[in-house]
Amino acid sequence: MTAEPSTRVIKADSEAAAAAARCLAAGGLVAFPTETVYGLGADAMNGLAVARLYEAKGRPAFNPLIAHVPDLAAARELARFDTAAERLATALWPGPLTLVLPKAHDCPVADLATAGLDSIAVRVPDHPLARAILTAFGRPVVAPSATRSGHVSPTTAPHVLADLRGRIDLIVDGGATAVGVESTIVSCLGEPALLRPGGVPRAAIERALGQPLAETAMLDDADEGEAPLAPGQLAPHYAPHRPLRLDATTVSAGEALLAFGPLAPAGAAPVRTLNLSVHGDLVEAAANLFSHLRALDAAGAASIAVMPVPHEGLGEAINDRLKRAAAPRP
Ligand code: TXA
Ligand code: MG
Repeated sequence: MTAEPSTRVIKADSEAAAAAARCLAAGGLVAFPTETVYGLGADAMNGLAVARLYEAKGRPAFNPLIAHVPDLAAARELARFDTAAERLATALWPGPLTLVLPKAHDCPVADLATAGLDSIAVRVPDHPLARAILTAFGRPVVAPSATRSGHVSPTTAPHVLADLRGRIDLIVDGGATAVGVESTIVSCLGEPALLRPGGVPRAAIERALGQPLAETAMLDDADEGEAPLAPGQLAPHYAPHRPLRLDATTVSAGEALLAFGPLAPAGAAPVRTLNLSVHGDLVEAAANLFSHLRALDAAGAASIAVMPVPHEGLGEAINDRLKRAAAPRP
C-alpha cells in the first residue's frame, strides 16, 4: 500500500524529467534535487499520493508542504499575490525563497498538502532538473526535504537512498545541491514576515521589498523532529468553527459524524455523515481528513462527532491533527 519495495535511481540525463513526470502522474514518490536540498516529490493534486508521502517520511506529521511550480504564471493558479508578494517573486524567483500566500479560490492542491489551511506555501526552484521535471509534469509538486523525519536534509542522492530506500519509487541523481540549506520562508498573509531563515538572506528580501520584515515567531521544523513545539511557534493548523468531539462511540442529536471504518455508532441520526475510510485504510483516511472536516463544518450541525482512529501508521498524524482541531481556540 505504500511505496514500491525497490527504489529506482536514475541519472539526470535527457530522459530523466520525463521518467520522473510519469512516476508522479502514477501517484509515485520521486526524490529530485533542487538548488537547496533534495525534495521528496508527489503530485500536489493527488491526496492519496500526498498521504503516502507523509507515510514514507517515517514518523508522519501533517505539516503543510511547499508546492513547487516552474514559474510565476503557474504559481498564480495556486495563490493570490499582493504587492509585496509580487515584488518578492519578481526579484527572487526562481530561487531559494518560499512564499506563504492566500490560496487562490480554485486552488487545485489537495487539502492534505496544505493541512487544511487557507494559505499555501509556493516556490519556484532554481535548478534546471527540478524545473524540467515540473515543466514535464505540468502540475504542482509538493516536496518536503527527502529525508525520514528527524534526519538532516539530504544534499546528495546517496543521502536520500540511505534514508528512503524501499520507501519511495524513484530518485533522480543530479549530483550535490548548491545551496545546502532549505529555502527561506516569508509569509505574505499580512505584513511580510520571516517564518524560516534559509537560502536567501534577510537583507536580500528586505532590499527587494523596500521595507523591513515584520518580527514574528519562527516556524519550528517539527517535521524534522527538532525541539518540541513551544507556544507561539506552533505550526499553523486547521481549526473548524464547530466543536469536535473526539473518540465518539455514539452520536448525539444535532451532531454531524466523521466516521472511520464500516460500523455505524449508536445514538441519534447524524445531520450529515462522511467516512474517512469505510475499509479502515489509514492512507485513504489521511487523504480525506481535511476536506471531510471542512464539509462537515459547513453542514449546519451543532458539533462534529469523530469516531476513534487507530493510533498506528498515519493514524498517529491523523489523531494529532484531530486533537489540534478540537482544541479550544485562543
Ligand atoms: O528548500 C526547501 O524549501 C525544501 C526543498 C525540497 O524545496 N523543502 C522544504 O520543505 O524544506 P519542508 O516540508 O521540509 O518545509 C516546509 C515548511 C514547514 O516548516 C511548513 O510548516 C512550512 O513550510 N509551511 C508550509 N505551508 C505553510 C503555510 N501555509 N503556512 C505556514 N507555514 C507553512
Ligand atoms: Mg523539512
